[in-house]
Amino acid sequence: MHPSISLLVCVTAVLVFLGQVSSQPTSTTTVVTTTTVTTTLVSTATPPSTCTPQYDCSSSPKGCLNNGVCTNNMCSCLPGFGGNDCSLLSCGSPLTAPSQRPTVAANSSCTQCDSGFSGFNCNICQTDAGCQSKSPSRTSILGNEGMVCNKKTEVFYDSFMTCAVRAPELTGFFPGKYTVNLDMDAINKTIYAQLWLDQVEQFYCSVPNCDIATTEQNGNIQTTWTCPVIDCQCLNPTLMCGGVPGPVVNLNSTINSLKGPFSLTCPQGNASCDFFIDDLSGFFPNGLQMVDCDL
Ligand SMILES: *[C@@H]1O[C@H](CO)[C@@H](O)[C@H](O)[C@H]1NC(C)=O
Ligand SMILES: *[C@@H]1O[C@H](CO)[C@@H](O)[C@H](O)[C@H]1NC(C)=O
Ligand SMILES: *[C@@H]1O[C@H](CO)[C@@H](O)[C@H](O)[C@H]1NC(C)=O
Ligand SMILES: *[C@@H]1O[C@H](CO)[C@@H](O)[C@H](O)[C@H]1NC(C)=O
Repeated sequence: MHPSISLLVCVTAVLVFLGQVSSQPTSTTTVVTTTTVTTTLVSTATPPSTCTPQYDCSSSPKGCLNNGVCTNNMCSCLPGFGGNDCSLLSCGSPLTAPSQRPTVAANSSCTQCDSGFSGFNCNICQTDAGCQSKSPSRTSILGNEGMVCNKKTEVFYDSFMTCAVRAPELTGFFPGKYTVNLDMDAINKTIYAQLWLDQVEQFYCSVPNCDIATTEQNGNIQTTWTCPVIDCQCLNPTLMCGGVPGPVVNLNSTINSLKGPFSLTCPQGNASCDFFIDDLSGFFPNGLQMVDCDL
């Protein structure tokens, strides 16, 4: 996995598909005019017993991983994740509807992204042409000519980035290569993050209700996300989450009980960002640094 970062703003396109993230196919009810008919339709909609049972996120304790949302018993995954429980990586590009993106195993990485996209789950745009590669109807009401690949740290709609994490305190316990993958949604003011150790995802977080500010200080422009809460899920069994028997550090309960606040500061034109989680200030007094963010 390359510690590559970039910020994607295939501006309106990504918005369109974010819309689709939460919309699941629902049964047509346009012909329904009376309560009686509705009742009939519901009762006949029960699948015959010969149908293969589908993964039902509402009754499975696992639900939807990676901050996917369970709607009508089906998971709607965030861009870059797929499979019926959102545990797989999806390839292609975020301009493709989530359900149409080819998936690969969670502990691998995509070998083929759509032209103009990269990153281990193909979310990161590299060229304006990539952002303009879909037909206008799939991208924006304005057509796709104006679509650009945003490589700034300032987020306009939804951006993705992947960086290495500099965490000497952690590598002592868990040696390996740390990668953080961020989906920064400036419309909902939410960051979704996953942490990977080598090829294996250890935990994921959602950080809602952020305040986003781009400021200039001494000629340096930076974007800061200040967020009151962070909510993380440790994935079991993984190295960091108690998956290894024996006298090793188990961060499972620490990670699951993180509360925040959280802040992320990314200077413009700099391949690094700093982040800070209040609960971990004893462990990381100066916060943590995301580096090698390759814009
Ligand atoms: C990847 O995950 C699959 C399914 O969980 C497992 O069978 C396989 O051994 C894993 N491969 C590696 C390299 O960890
Ligand atoms: C953003 O928030 C709106 C309103 O709460 C919601 O309908 C939508 O699904 C959210 N989008 C994402 C990507 O979470
Ligand atoms: C991790 O923590 C969760 C709750 O915080 C608990 O349900 C689970 O059993 C723990 N798993 C391990 C392997 O420690
Ligand atoms: C850019 O990042 C480096 C660390 O990688 C830091 O030392 C430097 O001060 C940063 N520059 C700005 C303008 O913030």
